[in-house]
Amino acid sequence: MIGVFDSGFGGLTVLASLTSALPEYDYLFLADSARAPYGARSFDVIYDFTLESVEWLFDQGCTLVILACNTASTRALRNLQQLHLPAHRPDRRVLGVVRPSAEALAGLPPGALPGVTAPSLATGTVVVLGTESTIASDSYGMELRKLAPGLELVQQACPLWAPLVEAGELDGPGTEWFLRRYLDPVLSVARLPQRILLGCTHYPLLLPGIRQIVPREVEVLAQGDIVAARLAVWLERHPEQAARLARNGGRQFATTDDPAWFAARGERLLGQPLTAERVRLRPVR
Ligand code: DGL
Repeated sequence: MIGVFDSGFGGLTVLASLTSALPEYDYLFLADSARAPYGARSFDVIYDFTLESVEWLFDQGCTLVILACNTASTRALRNLQQLHLPAHRPDRRVLGVVRPSAEALAGLPPGALPGVTAPSLATGTVVVLGTESTIASDSYGMELRKLAPGLELVQQACPLWAPLVEAGELDGPGTEWFLRRYLDPVLSVARLPQRILLGCTHYPLLLPGIRQIVPREVEVLAQGDIVAARLAVWLERHPEQAARLARNGGRQFATTDDPAWFAARGERLLGQPLTAERVRLRPVR
């Protein structure tokens, strides 16, 4: 199976794109809803929670896990790939959402090779919106300095957006106030940005409200389709990994909190009935 992990149910926005672009594969989605949101937590805590979730997905038979969470991708992916997998799970793979999203933000095609830069955007301005932790990590800054060195990047933390989404507060005057609170600063710069990346997998649920505030000429990028297109390229380039994945079109859902709560929100997001299982994660370190 392909494991897909998020702190909460926002990562279902990525799962929806994955299952639409690559429907033949079997997917197991895990939401650590009992401990979401992760966005304001420390590096060590995010790493531990992510490691426990990824290990649980491995134990269920996932050979490939997608961290459908920017906070986990920016805080845990590198250590997982460089330290944990080689020592404990050399045959498994974990991929994140930052590199593919940075490629898209730079205007590069899926799967751009190392060393390829994006000269066409050399003088533009782009914005990344994310959790406090994602923005503090400067992971997008590091990727974009490699991919499009001349691009000006504005990063804005939106600490209250993921909690609003988890609470189901997707519209109304209160939500609009919080949308403007973090969008106004990035829109009042002298020159409008060309692109805004929703660098948190919860934020696409706020897209209708965001689109009403952001001027039409500014492109707003959600990550689901970006990640799905890049995963398709990755699977083509790693046929030995693709060959290990079952292709029965299976979909399973697990959460660390109330499965009925998760299923109700998930059904609204995916537009189809689903059942979820409650699971307990165990400490790994
Ligand atoms: N969905 C997660 C992300 O992409 C974050 C939400 C949270 O704060 O847990 O960053």
